[in-house]
Amino acid sequence: MSKNKEIVMSGIRPTGFLHLGNYFGAVKNYVRMQEEYECFFMVADLHSLTTHPDTKGLKQNVHRVLAENIACGLDPNKVALYCQSHIYETSELYLYLNMLAYKGELEKTTTFKDKARLQPDNINAGLLTYPVLQTADIILHRAKYVPVGKDQEQHLEMARNFVKRFNHRYGEVFPAPSAFNFGEELIKVPSLDGSGKMSKSENQYATIYLSDDDELIRTKVKKAKMDSGPKEMNAMKSPEVENIFLLLKLVSSGDTVKKFEEDYNNCTIKYGDLKGQLGADMVKFISPIREKVNSILEDERYLKQVMEQGAEKSRKSAKTTMELVREAIGLKYF
Ligand code: TRP
Repeated sequence: MSKNKEIVMSGIRPTGFLHLGNYFGAVKNYVRMQEEYECFFMVADLHSLTTHPDTKGLKQNVHRVLAENIACGLDPNKVALYCQSHIYETSELYLYLNMLAYKGELEKTTTFKDKARLQPDNINAGLLTYPVLQTADIILHRAKYVPVGKDQEQHLEMARNFVKRFNHRYGEVFPAPSAFNFGEELIKVPSLDGSGKMSKSENQYATIYLSDDDELIRTKVKKAKMDSGPKEMNAMKSPEVENIFLLLKLVSSGDTVKKFEEDYNNCTIKYGDLKGQLGADMVKFISPIREKVNSILEDERYLKQVMEQGAEKSRKSAKTTMELVREAIGLKYF
């Protein structure tokens, strides 16, 4: 990691099981960023305690998130890949930032209101101050860019406000972080049930996970919703058929896409063939990643080494920042 690279930071919730939407929407971006930026990628295990107080599955989930991200191409030798709970400085910075965050603005946060509705018996202070902890994660490394999706924009805006207040009160310590994604708009991976994007869904056949076995992948593609076929030459595609073509573009060769586009346009397309091809190419794409995840998961010594190495890199950067922070706040008495 060279000194003059700009700093990127992002957190990944350890909820386990990446799907194709996560891959093309987030992880692929991380993998590209590791070449050009100084990257800190963190498993947000402390954040998960705000909604998942039962920690029985936590270790397994943390291992899976690490394994999946590495299998998708994140290189622990290029980025700092670490767990939030290993960096105690985060908790200290979170405490200072809590004095700059107001109850009113925290209560207005969309994610807080959503989660409070989902868990009315556990509206804990950690849930309320979730964006404060997220800000601590980011500015602990004085990061400038945060690769996140639309759902995190409000948290990022709050982070900028907390940073402004800190800098105004105690002096310029932090750059204002902003959401960042490579080049064009993020790729949207459509769901297999004809509407919306691929996400953790009620309909288990609408989403393809990187952990799905070959048979399940083919079945999911086969079950995808379709229309009754083009009725005239060069017809507009219905949303569900458009989605299948979008998926084909993600995993198949240009020639394959072209062939099926032509078949569609001259009304000779057979949806069974299209799905067969998509299923096969999807399997070709996912199965090596799945195998890699599994072999990493079996190697606990490797995972331990990854976490230690990541924590070490992260602590180094945290230490520098926290010295500046304590001094700026005035917590220096001798
Ligand atoms: N809140 C983010 C999410 O739900 C996860 C997260 C935690 C994060 N800390 C972060 C994202 C810091 C970006 C930067 O996905």
